[in-house]
Amino acid sequence: MKTKVQTMESLERLYSLFEADLFAVKTLIDTTLNRARNVSNDDLISHLLTLSGKQVRPILTLLAYRLFLNESQNELSSPEPLIQISSAIELIHLASLVHDDVIDDGQYRRDQLSVNAKFGNARAVTVGVYLYSMSLELIAKTRQCDLLYSLSQAVKLMCEGELFQLDSRGEMTVSVEHYLNVVYSKTARLFMSSFECGAQLAAVSQSQVVLLQKYGYYLGVLFQLTDDYLDVFGDQVALKKEKGQDFGQGQFTLPYLFLFEEVCPEEKNTLISDMKSNGEGAFLRSTQCMRDLGVEKRCETFIHGYHRAALSLLEPVSDSLYKQALLFLQQFIVDRINAR
Ligand code: FPP
Ligand code: MG
Repeated sequence: MKTKVQTMESLERLYSLFEADLFAVKTLIDTTLNRARNVSNDDLISHLLTLSGKQVRPILTLLAYRLFLNESQNELSSPEPLIQISSAIELIHLASLVHDDVIDDGQYRRDQLSVNAKFGNARAVTVGVYLYSMSLELIAKTRQCDLLYSLSQAVKLMCEGELFQLDSRGEMTVSVEHYLNVVYSKTARLFMSSFECGAQLAAVSQSQVVLLQKYGYYLGVLFQLTDDYLDVFGDQVALKKEKGQDFGQGQFTLPYLFLFEEVCPEEKNTLISDMKSNGEGAFLRSTQCMRDLGVEKRCETFIHGYHRAALSLLEPVSDSLYKQALLFLQQFIVDRINAR
């Protein structure tokens, strides 16, 4: 009789499962950055090295690689291209955040000053492309054109998502459908590729690749929905970046779209002009209004819908330590809204 695989109980356990690979990813990223160091970029490189994050996307790639392999295959160590591609994905993500902080005028990132806040926009834009070029170098080293194709599509969509989002700033007619399309493009598509790259390297079946891509879609949307929810309702300290950025930018994320549905046209106009002036107390007033009108709860229900949809996609996958790790990661993402 098969024994039931134990559930994963902590984030530490998840990281320890991939300890060697995540260490290899971090080492490769640090080495790649340090190799680029010279007299004129020394401070910038040092700052980038302090910006390491939770490595969510590399973990997805490492998980996708292991999820469908059998126990004896999983005893073998990871191939070099898996480390290279996981590192490349983290570099793409970092590059996109450096650019995103220029676009959003974000001052803090991962508990540090953002690159633009410390070095100015011109350097931040340049160093973002620099990081992106480093990721291309690592993808090239894998010699896998299909991975290059997948990631190039992801980056293309991320740019389109940012452009859609810029076009819709302050736009009164933004729909939930439009918003979800932005979320897919700017966030979920890279999640999909992170899974796809790991699965392709494990040479699993096409249907398994497709399943993971679909799952990546739901997990990515779930991630961005919780991010946008926390920008409104989250705890400033836990966030490690400023709250209310979307309000300040006139970016109508899910909480604002739901709020607009609850108020009359005059109130909607007042809220939008409050957002434009971004005066003191305006953000807090809009948050209070959302709480009073049940918007917070409605967002939570909406987010849980994506949570359930993602879970149901994993149902046919046989139980294993790696499946439990994925379930834990998903729960961890959702719990960010419960743990405020
Ligand atoms: C964070 O969004 C930003 C993204 C998810 C993607 C940004 C993408 C680009 C700038 C285009 C791609 C660029 C490169 C160099 C690959 P957010 O502002 O909602 O999140 P935040 O609250 O963390 O700032
Ligand atoms: Mg931002």
